[in-house]
Parts: sequence; structure tokens; C-alpha cells
Amino acid sequence: MKSLSVSELLKGEQLLQEITIKGWVRTFRANRFIALNDGSTINNIQCVVDFENTDETVLKRITTGAAVAITGTLIESQGKGQSVEIEVKTIDILGDSDPETYPIQPKKHSFEFLRENAHLRTRTNTFSAVMRLRSSLSFAIHNYFNQNNFYYMHTPIITGSDAEGAGEMFQVTGLDVKNPPLNDGGAIDYSKDFFGKETNLTVSGQLEAETYAMSLGKVYTFGPTFRAENSNTSRHLSEFWMIEPEVAFMDLAGNMDLAEDFLKSVINHILENNKEDLEFLEQRLLDEEKSKPQKERSELSLIEKLKFVADNNFKRVSYTEAIDILKNCKPNKKKKFNYIIEEWGADLQSEHERYLVEKHFKCPVILFDYPANIKAFYMRLNDDGKTVRAMDILFPGIGEMVGGAQREERLDVLIEKMKAIGIDEKELWWYTDLRKYGSAVHSGFGLGFERLVMFATGMGNIRDVIPFPRTPQNAEF
Ligand code: 4AD
Ligand code: MG
Repeated sequence: MKSLSVSELLKGEQLLQEITIKGWVRTFRANRFIALNDGSTINNIQCVVDFENTDETVLKRITTGAAVAITGTLIESQGKGQSVEIEVKTIDILGDSDPETYPIQPKKHSFEFLRENAHLRTRTNTFSAVMRLRSSLSFAIHNYFNQNNFYYMHTPIITGSDAEGAGEMFQVTGLDVKNPPLNDGGAIDYSKDFFGKETNLTVSGQLEAETYAMSLGKVYTFGPTFRAENSNTSRHLSEFWMIEPEVAFMDLAGNMDLAEDFLKSVINHILENNKEDLEFLEQRLLDEEKSKPQKERSELSLIEKLKFVADNNFKRVSYTEAIDILKNCKPNKKKKFNYIIEEWGADLQSEHERYLVEKHFKCPVILFDYPANIKAFYMRLNDDGKTVRAMDILFPGIGEMVGGAQREERLDVLIEKMKAIGIDEKELWWYTDLRKYGSAVHSGFGLGFERLVMFATGMGNIRDVIPFPRTPQNAEF
């Protein structure tokens, strides 16, 4: 007999057949009704136990969290709340659970508590829904690029170049940190380290992805990246996953079109394929918002928000226009911002980004043409000599979702910029080589995967959309 999943059984196609199902007990009511879940769907299947003909010792072992195998007949449900249920014939306890100590009780737990029990939190409705959506989004991303003829490229996790400048790095070393070899000057002698040089965990695969774009044309990476900033916010992780497409012969306008089409496509994928999980998370969010003052509640429900993004054009606004809006807006004039915008050139903080998307434009915004000195060295300098072809995509409730740019393709300009910020040309010889041999306009961007999962699930803390979050002072599991 084939073992089916709860999600398959709930379709009702095996009605009146004998079936076997394995899963974990969510609840056991009145010595009779087991709510069983196996992770295949947000829904449980009800299994009705004939307690008069079931061994008492077995009944006692049907507790929340126990793993069981049930054989029985799928029948139309007698009660309300489900269309089918299982009339249990035999029940095997595969793995007992201790109801006294099992952390996931059938009641509401705080997200903080569940984070401490991240190894078991996917046994809850909320986290199983979030992680199924995470998986689905991840599939949709690969699918989008595959259908659009991009090659999936694996960029290195350990990097010997520390020039990207996207953030503080975690060092990787094979040296004895208590007693490292020193050179004549007393500094650590990295020529004796494992790779013969100083190495770190990567902050981004972009520079390597550029090399493949300049030969394979359209590539993307989807891998873990690491940043050692000590920023304890609800939107930062020390280890997060990033998607970075990079395309030859594509300018900034093409980059914006790609990013917008890509984001809409993956959001449409979950709207079509993950309805039940989204409906559950939408209700969760509504319940959570009931405790907030009316003013802070969002006007749109989760699914409405996703549809809104999928169906409407993103607003494209230059940095210069954005500064004008911000300089003259109420919170700036009334000094409500922590950082007051006084003049062109100011770096935008998340309070400003959120004002633009949430209060002013009320839709995703693509900001472009930023001042050169607040953006990375590799971004293409505009003819005005002071702005670069950068773009950030800002989302309501999230802030920065995507960061990208058209890359500087002119060797002399690139070297000039590297010099200005003290990057050794020799260090990035392979990167400048791309500008020596068949250089061309090219562009790309990085999407923070967890920020996308936050938006798609309505979760408010990035620690709750990745299985085992790494943040300052925390690397449990
Ligand atoms: O803006 P960032 O730093 O851009 C880059 O790394 C470029 N090399 C990307 C490229 O052009 N190929 O990071 C890209 C995105 C951000 O927009 C944000 O969504 C996410 O990565 N991100 C983080 N997500 C979680 N935790 C952090 N600490 C993050 N830092 C950036
Ligand atoms: Mg950025």
C-alpha cells in the first residue's frame, strides 16, 4: 500500500479505500480525534480512533508531538471543519513524545520562544507555512531564470578578494589563532595561512558573476552571503541568501525592467501555488494587527498587497527627485526623522526609504542615479561626473529589497575610482581584465532573499523567515 501525504489525502480521491498515513500528532481530543500533520500542507487530517477497541497503553502514547503511522479508511467526514477523515484501523506509535516537556504545546507561543526552539518551530502552522513559501519562492526564482535562458552560476563562498566593499567580512583561517606566525614587522604572516593569503567569507558573488556574464551572457547566482556588521535590526542577518543576476549588453533601464518583471513573476507564482499558506498567514497578520492602533494597521491585507505589487508598475524616481520630496516633507520639516535631510548628497536611511514607499508613493519604488560617493566603486559614472547608474528597489514594510547597478565598463574610469578609495589594482587584476578584453555595457542586481520572504509572508522579523538565523551573538543550531 502506497503511503500518501496529508495534502494528497485531503483531495478525497481515495475515498472508501484503505490508506496509510504517517505524521506527527498536533492534538488528540476526547481520546478519539487525532489532528495529524505531516508538513505537506497547512491543514491537518482528522483521524478518528475507535477507543473502545484500542489498547489503553497505545491511547496513552498518542500525545502532541508523537510520530505515528495510521492505517484506516478514508471516509467523508461526519463532523464540521473537514471534508474527509480517516476511520482508524491500526495505529503504530513510531516515536513517543513527552507531553510534559515538548516545547510546542497546542497554544499560542511567542516568536521569541519559538526562535529558541527553531529546531521544532516548523511543527507550528505559522513556521511551516513560512518555510513552504520560502521553498516555493526559491523554486520560482530558479524557474524564472531558467525560462529566461540564464545560467545558474556557483560563485565561491571563500574569497581572497576583499575589495567589494559591501560590508564587514568574516575571516576564514587555518592558522592557530592563539599563536599565529608573524612576519618581521610583527604582523600576522598570511603567506603561511591555508590559502597563502588572507581569506574571508563572501559578502556578494557579484564580481565573480560579472566574469561569467562577460562570457556566458546571462547568469545568476543564488547562494549564501555573510556580513559581519553588528546591526541588530529586524531586517539584517549575518548570513543571508542573495540572488544576483548579471547580464552583458544590458543597461540600467534594462536592469530595472528585469528586476521588476522578475519580482512580479515570483510573487505571481506563490499567489497561484501557495494559496492556503498565504490565506493562513494573511489571517495571522490580521489577528496580530488587531492589537495595534488603527493608524498603524496596513490598509491592504497580505494577499491584496502581493496582488498590488504584481499588478502595478513600480515607480521609477531619481535620487535627486527623491531628495526634493524628502527635503520638503512634513517629518523632515518637523524634525521627526532621526537624520534630517538637508542637502543633495545625503545618504538615505531606512526611515527615508520607508517614507517614500509607504507614505509618499504607496508602491514599490526604484530609486536610481545616486551620488557616486555613497555607492560602490564599480557603478558606472554618469556624464554629470557626480552620479552613478545605481538602483535600489524599495518595498513597503521592508525598505531596501534590491540593490544593483550598471557596471563601470571603461578601464580608465574604473581604475581612477579604485585608486580614489585605495583599492590596489593588482588585487583585482582579473576584474580589470574584463575591461581590457572585450569590455561592454553590463548590469546586474542583488535581491536579499529573506527580505523577499518577509514581504511574501508578512512576517515582521527576518529571523523568522530563515531556518536557523545567524545574528550578532547568536549561532545556535
Ligand atoms: O545592496 P547590497 O549590499 O548589494 C550587493 O551586494 C551587490 N553586490 C548586489 C549586486 O549588484 N549584485 O545587497 C543586496 C541586497 C539588499 O538590497 C538587501 O535586500 C539584501 O541584499 N541585504 C541583506 N539582507 C539581509 N541581511 C543583511 N545584512 C543584508 N544586507 C543586504
Ligand atoms: Mg544596498
